[in-house]
Amino acid sequence: MTYLIGIDVGTTGTKTLLIDQQGTVLASVTAEYPMYTPRPQWAEQDPEDWWEATVKTIRQVLARSRIDPAEIAGIGLTGQMHGMVMLDGQGKVLRRCIMWNDQRTAAQCEWIMNTIGRERFLELTSNPALPGFTAPKIIWTRENEPEVYARAAKVLLPKDYIRYRLTGAYATEVSDASGTVLLNVTQRKWSQEVLRDLAIPASWLPECYESTEVTGRITAEVAEQTGLPVGLPVVGGAGDQAASAVGTGIVEPGLVSVTMGTSGVVFAYTDTPTRDYDGRLHTFCHAVPGKWHVMGVTLSAGGSFRWLRDTLGLAEKSVAELSGVDAYEILTAEAANAPAGCEGLIFLPYLTGERTPYPDANARGTFFGLTLRHDKRHLVRAVMEGVAYSLRDSIELLRDLGIPIQQVRATGGGARSMLWRQILADVFGTELVTVNVTEGTAYGAALLAGVGTEVYGSVPEACSTTIRIVDRIDPVPESQAAYNEYYPVYRSLYRSLKPAFDAVAAVG
Ligand code: XUL
Repeated sequence: MTYLIGIDVGTTGTKTLLIDQQGTVLASVTAEYPMYTPRPQWAEQDPEDWWEATVKTIRQVLARSRIDPAEIAGIGLTGQMHGMVMLDGQGKVLRRCIMWNDQRTAAQCEWIMNTIGRERFLELTSNPALPGFTAPKIIWTRENEPEVYARAAKVLLPKDYIRYRLTGAYATEVSDASGTVLLNVTQRKWSQEVLRDLAIPASWLPECYESTEVTGRITAEVAEQTGLPVGLPVVGGAGDQAASAVGTGIVEPGLVSVTMGTSGVVFAYTDTPTRDYDGRLHTFCHAVPGKWHVMGVTLSAGGSFRWLRDTLGLAEKSVAELSGVDAYEILTAEAANAPAGCEGLIFLPYLTGERTPYPDANARGTFFGLTLRHDKRHLVRAVMEGVAYSLRDSIELLRDLGIPIQQVRATGGGARSMLWRQILADVFGTELVTVNVTEGTAYGAALLAGVGTEVYGSVPEACSTTIRIVDRIDPVPESQAAYNEYYPVYRSLYRSLKPAFDAVAAVG
């Protein structure tokens, strides 16, 4: 038998997973670590914590699966995107990683867009500079920590720092590199123009591979520490969204995924680099060699439901503690008793600002249309529907770009709710399916390792060997009709409220 390992350097922890070549998961272990917020809206992690979690989870996965490590074909890496890990000439970490959800770089984003010019920047990188992305973090360090910047010799993304520790190689791959806004996404190589105009030394960036290419091999020292064989190949892997798409089978035209985690992500495969000229969707390289994807992000999807549970769901939380039934399930059962469209109650899920279609940190969560008829059932359902409307905004942008949508695959914690899946199908007006794989991100990385080591002939072949559809939901025509009436109202609310959002933000 041949085995594959996927390692996901995530935001809350690192997960290592081992599958056999048919795709059966033999072991999966996660080790958590802290996130530091030295100031409001800042987010940092210590790369040493990721490394310790990686070593620990590899050892535990090998122990639990009881396989012969000599039968492992390769490792694929994935992880949180956009983070900046800055190293000196000896490969030592110079400061904590500035993470994807850190918002400190608004001024640097503006400077980048003005220095290069918005149109030219979009032409070169296919995306605008957003505060979460990597390039503005490099500029921030130059401006705010010149002593750190002066010692820098390399900049790596989170999973690529783990690659460096595993193999000694400075390398990345095109999907994660896309989120730095230093990559020419169309040409799939670093943009020398952008590097020159931003005065970032090209020598700081690692070699950029396709996701399935072998980028390095396990060193003798790491073999000793982990129990992995010396020389085991490590392939490029992918940023967490592209890896999750591979783990959900979004590797052909017509397939779109909706991932319902804290944030909600709509992800579509494309054969060519399809760009939204207003920069509302991200256009990144896919982990399928020579292919691309676009994605839209709702910042508070599952996060909105968690907020509701923790504020209005205290009674349900107490019942959950006594009965052992999950509080989300109790709340969802209440929501099922309110009609589709909530009799005009509409929720805007902008609890942490928004990315798609409004990259706007000032946007706020809103309940609109409350009347005496509305009760708790409506409030819960309105939150689920509001998240679905926001994800539909991304679906509509795909439709505007002419990207075919034949099937939507739902994944992530929120997709476990049957009611939420039905609401998504009704709001999108499409069939919605779920697949057998529930550990999408690390699983996708393991499949990429299988392609790079010739266990599978291609990424689509790896997916068709291992991923199956297990559930299908069709839209209910009456509910779909109700949502089609309310959706334009939902859309108009952001525009109407924008001045009020800005005014409230100015007050503080
Ligand atoms: C993608 C993104 C997140 C992070 C953390 O653009 O910001 O998916 O990679 O999960």
